[in-house]
Amino acid sequence: MTTVTTPALAPTRAALRAEIAAVRAQRGGAGRVALVPTMGALHVGHAALMREARDRVGPDGVVVASVFVNPLQFGQGEDLDRYPRTLEADLAVCAEQGVDVVLAPAVEEVYPGGDPQVTVEPGPLATLLEGASRPGHFRGVLTVVAKLFGLVQPDVAVFGQKDFQQLTLVRRMVADLCLPVEVVGAETVREPDGLALSSRNRYLDPEQRRTAVVLSRALHAAREHATYGAGAAREAALAVVADTPGVELDYLVVTEADLADVDGTREDVREGRVLVAARLGATRLLDNLPITIHPTPPSEESR
Ligand code: PAF
Repeated sequence: MTTVTTPALAPTRAALRAEIAAVRAQRGGAGRVALVPTMGALHVGHAALMREARDRVGPDGVVVASVFVNPLQFGQGEDLDRYPRTLEADLAVCAEQGVDVVLAPAVEEVYPGGDPQVTVEPGPLATLLEGASRPGHFRGVLTVVAKLFGLVQPDVAVFGQKDFQQLTLVRRMVADLCLPVEVVGAETVREPDGLALSSRNRYLDPEQRRTAVVLSRALHAAREHATYGAGAAREAALAVVADTPGVELDYLVVTEADLADVDGTREDVREGRVLVAARLGATRLLDNLPITIHPTPPSEESR
């Protein structure tokens, strides 16, 4: 029988420091700290991040999960107000995964002076893809992630690859600002039909839920056609989603691994990424997969 221990709930900065110190002391005082930042509405994808965090720091380490719906990363007209807030259920998920401390602060605890005057400027990558339709989003994300790093002082932080642009930008922030944190990107967890798990999937009605599977199918189609070059891979993916009733495509792109445009002059075979975002009704879904980029064969170039 597995024992489920309730994690300590820390609503304030002071409680957080005290709880981390207490768990550390109980375990000999030398354990590393891992952070799993979340906005709550936890699902099995988050549970996988928590297991990854535990694997990284081991039984003597301290696993902290944060549950905070960060207003700074929501634009006007986005779903801040209706974003699901399910703290009781979230605590149960954290308990099952052996999380030691749950930081669940009020907005005033994170932003005591209201909107911060100093924020993290995420640079040019933040204007593309998600950033193109959500201006200011990544400024909000990186600012709160930097704050969480300051509050928790983790040795390791675990993020999902599902938000691949976010993961790339967090890595970039850590490198550019010399933050002493190891960033781990955990693989996306999927439903049996391939749909990437997301807190927003709960907004889908049954018809939209059935349709949503085209996103992961499109990504797989891109991978299957990648030997014909990045352009052919993208076309194959577009053919899967195009004209699917109820799916309004926002973007579908093949990129280099760091999200730069594919460099058509390169002749090597290398890792890249295929990413998609689409709206099903009022719900915007994202997904991505690694893809092997091949140079475009001459027969495809002349098509
Ligand atoms: O991915 C999320 O849930 C959020 O963007 C994060 C990283 C917790 C910051 O609010």
